[in-house]
Amino acid sequence: EKDSLYSLIILGASGDLAKKKIYPTLWSLYRDNLLPSNTIFVGYARSKLSIADLRKLFEPNCKIIEGQEAQFDAFIKQNVYIAGSYDKEEDFKKLHDELDERESKVKAGHRVFYLSLPPFVFDTATQHIRENCWGTRGWNRVVLEKPFGHDLESSRKLSSHLKKLFSEEEIYRIDHYLGKELVQNLLTLRFANRIFSPAWNNHHVASVLISFKEPIGTQGRGGYFDEYGIIRDIIQNHLMQIFCLAAMEKPVSLDAEDIRDEKVRVLRRIAPATIENSVLGQYLGNPNGKNEDEKTGYLEDPTVPKGSVTPTFAALVLKIDNERWEGVPWILRAGKALNERKAEIRVQFKNPDGDIMPGNATKRDELVIRFQPNEAIYLKMMTKTPNSHFGMEETELDLTYSKRYEGVVLAEAYQLLFLEILRGRQIHFVRNDELEQTWRIFTPLLHQIENEKIKPIDYEFGSRGPREADKLLAENNFVYTGTY
Ligand code: BG6
Repeated sequence: EKDSLYSLIILGASGDLAKKKIYPTLWSLYRDNLLPSNTIFVGYARSKLSIADLRKLFEPNCKIIEGQEAQFDAFIKQNVYIAGSYDKEEDFKKLHDELDERESKVKAGHRVFYLSLPPFVFDTATQHIRENCWGTRGWNRVVLEKPFGHDLESSRKLSSHLKKLFSEEEIYRIDHYLGKELVQNLLTLRFANRIFSPAWNNHHVASVLISFKEPIGTQGRGGYFDEYGIIRDIIQNHLMQIFCLAAMEKPVSLDAEDIRDEKVRVLRRIAPATIENSVLGQYLGNPNGKNEDEKTGYLEDPTVPKGSVTPTFAALVLKIDNERWEGVPWILRAGKALNERKAEIRVQFKNPDGDIMPGNATKRDELVIRFQPNEAIYLKMMTKTPNSHFGMEETELDLTYSKRYEGVVLAEAYQLLFLEILRGRQIHFVRNDELEQTWRIFTPLLHQIENEKIKPIDYEFGSRGPREADKLLAENNFVYTGTY
């Protein structure tokens, strides 16, 4: 490791994602000594910037506490910046020469190319990376973020382009939900505990809800959002990744290929989502909102095209046609401009058979895994009210992380994912065929919404979304037990 140089190359270094997420992550990894000692951070973007300019862009997003200033300066010293465009051979060659020059002083040089770029430059940038920038003295890895196309066909086009340039082992497709601690814990929870396994099927599970709620609107990103909508922004990727980990069979091993094989297998047993089984919503401004974002309805955002029918909320039902899950509704629900920030999965179990308890009071057991905020796993269950005869109440077996792991700071998704890229482990990255399957499931619905201009149902900023969604849940055997 000491004799190697690791270059983390950020293409699109001056962009929003880079300054808000990527550089702060790199700083935190550097600060915590988690990176190989010989790591450099190479920014690449069109604007001519000095390192001092670049620093100004991302420093406000790096949490630098008192006493860390010198370390932050040392981090800055490891930074390099090269101005170049995404379609010029000579610019990429310049980048390559710079890396070559530095690598020539050590035994090996490894390169991570992180594409923090808008999708329309993906093709040319990746081509230039492969043709003009590929290191010859170690491994090369390419990291991509969504959007991976906007439907099955465009995603296939991108995939076949990438396939010509790189092997699948060289491609790291980020879904940052796979970097979240409690998403990763799904595998441990399911496969390291005996008790869940016999109950994890249609004999015992009544329904499952996977839910994402955000209390913010487009916040000026309306232009981007409108091209994608909530189904592409959240459901097709983040919620489907959670879905796969919860629904798939036990993989042969914890190898990335074995895990991803199982994800693909379960995806292949799902019929495309339909409009009949969906509720779509779009938010209105709330006159009593606390700020401009809350007061502004989606269609009032000046960056959103007039009369847009893009959903900002969707609830839909998927059915898995296999022996384990036949008949169990899996409800996926995501929305912006709602009443709270919360991402969770709720697995509802059927009532016990031959109930002998008095008063018809038995309620379903429910396993809840809250990915954020306030990470927790808890099982809602019936218990005898203390000191009563057979009085019953619902309570929780509660694993709230802030209590059980007091003082432990959970790593951020991007931190974990970066380290995995350096280690060359693809478990928490999306394979090409997973992507293909998730697009297959949602493309017909997305096309129908767009072709028929299906109007979403209005809901107010700060509400729980359209009431029709609650009806959809009730029709699909989901029983409300709490606040969601
Ligand atoms: C991103 C979406 O992928 O995820 C955003 O593009 C969304 O619209 C974000 O806000 C949510 O991520 P997190 O980690 O804050 O739940």
